[in-house]
Amino acid sequence: MNPAPHPAQTTRPSLFDPLMVGELHLQNRVVMAPLTRNRAPGTVPTAMMATYYAQRADPATGAGLIISEASQISPQGQGYQDTPGIFSSDQVAAWRVVTDAVHQRGGLIACQLWHVGRISHERLQPGGGQPVSSSARTAASRVMVDGEFIACSPPRALRDDELPGIVADYAHAARCAMDAGFDAVEVHAANGYLLEQFLRDSLNDREGAWGGGLDGRTRLLTEVLQAVAHEAGSGRTGLRLSPVSPVNGLGQDSQPQALYEHVLARLAPLNLAFAHLVEGTTGGARDEVPFDHAALRRHFAGAWVVNNGYTREMALQAVEDGRADAVAFGRPFIANPDLGWRLRHQQPWADADRQTFYRGGERGYTDYPAVAPTTSA
Ligand SMILES: Cc1cc2nc3c(=O)[nH]c(=O)nc-3n(C[C@H](O)[C@H](O)[C@H](O)COP(=O)(O)O)c2cc1C
Repeated sequence: MNPAPHPAQTTRPSLFDPLMVGELHLQNRVVMAPLTRNRAPGTVPTAMMATYYAQRADPATGAGLIISEASQISPQGQGYQDTPGIFSSDQVAAWRVVTDAVHQRGGLIACQLWHVGRISHERLQPGGGQPVSSSARTAASRVMVDGEFIACSPPRALRDDELPGIVADYAHAARCAMDAGFDAVEVHAANGYLLEQFLRDSLNDREGAWGGGLDGRTRLLTEVLQAVAHEAGSGRTGLRLSPVSPVNGLGQDSQPQALYEHVLARLAPLNLAFAHLVEGTTGGARDEVPFDHAALRRHFAGAWVVNNGYTREMALQAVEDGRADAVAFGRPFIANPDLGWRLRHQQPWADADRQTFYRGGERGYTDYPAVAPTTSA
């Protein structure tokens, strides 16, 4: 269980205060949320990506911690064109250029580990095979293939004897992330992808050890986190959850509060560095489905990072109140490489152009100007 959030603190913490997140020493509590940008042709990161992350890495102007765009742990884990992988030696070497650029600016970067499950298309799958999931039910969602968003392919249900291999793929990816110089890893268990496809009874209708009740449905996530924490170290391992986000056609669990409290209670022995919560519908309404985040947090001892639609005022308040240790910003970081500075100095935020979110070149990626005075870093 969680002790009082800030037992030794006499003054209220600020968004701009340092924070220990597991073994990481953040210089401020502004986190860059993971943002898929589809600019890794052939799944290998580019020099342009290094520039993009470096622009946001200086804690004096950018983020105290960057979470990378979601990166597939295996060829089977890919669901969109030109997303980076974190499983081959080419990818590791290319990510090393990115992490070096971030570290040169004094920043920290975690790698988001991703398996999309059924949110994919046969044309992206090894050998043109079916995407995989907990259950053989097609997602009412779309993925990007050959430059356009098209309907997901019908998945097949993974066999029980395939699941240890999925766990091993996560462990391998975590090792690759460490080899590539990342400071931490974030296991992506949010937004309707594979791990959430096992968690929720809106989809997981398996019988046996990886389905059914809470223990069965939380087994894959638990084993993945045990394996990943073993590779990366628990002080460098976090996870992302979105307890009531219905995105990617997953819908709601019949008992989200009980499910997610079970998840964190079961993970407690691992002493993970951070939990990263998408509150409400990802990129949408924060309060459509009631959920008691404070009750959930009582099952977690590490740093509590919140996200989804945060304004400056909301973020300052959340940290001051102790409701969160840090706040992650997604869309605002696309158009404001110096978001940290703008937050600190109460400067207006530029709007991001949605047309350039996914795929493309420098336009709408590395060409958003900073207004902060340049630092020597
Ligand atoms: C272009 C774009 C790409 C995204 N990619 C990811 C991703 O790779 N992994 C993830 O967990 N969330 C992803 N998200 C969700 C964001 O991390 C974040 O949860 C969401 O934008 C809400 O936060 P915000 O209101 O601060 O933007 C993405 C969102 C956008 C707009």
